[in-house]
Amino acid sequence: MISKTMQAALNAQINLEQYSAQLYLAMGAHCTGKSFKGFAHWLKVQATEETAHAIRLMDFILDRGGRLELQALAAPPTDFGGVIQVFEAILAHEKAITGKINALFQQARQEQDHASEIALQWYVTEQVEEEARVGEIVDHLHAVGDQGGAIWYLDSRMGKRGRA
Ligand code: FEO
Repeated sequence: MISKTMQAALNAQINLEQYSAQLYLAMGAHCTGKSFKGFAHWLKVQATEETAHAIRLMDFILDRGGRLELQALAAPPTDFGGVIQVFEAILAHEKAITGKINALFQQARQEQDHASEIALQWYVTEQVEEEARVGEIVDHLHAVGDQGGAIWYLDSRMGKRGRA
């Protein structure tokens, strides 16, 4: 059986993962509005990944005999500036999520909740991948700038991301 404190912390993380999906859908719509269909596609795929992260935690709570307590989602912003700013904001968001995952992992250790610690390991690894992947995109965007032909090449490459 999962502790009440761990259950509350995991429910809060589910809300954050779902908010991430909301945020990336809003960013995707923003990119579509600028005719960056490839960046928009990448963000839609990322939103489905975030939903999968939330569902994985939901299943874990339920498997442990815990109670799922879904909370209202905050509304994301609607304007994000240029594409470089969008991806810089994603990187900052993912770094904040990494901090939350690390705190959860620490909590699991303190509670000697081995099952939660092992489940959270997957998220620790996933955050390393996500930060690396987004950091690379930010680097590419800085290299090409958000004007000129190269940004459209990047946009078409982003459009090739496979479904999660
Ligand atoms: Fe679910 Fe992008 O972290």
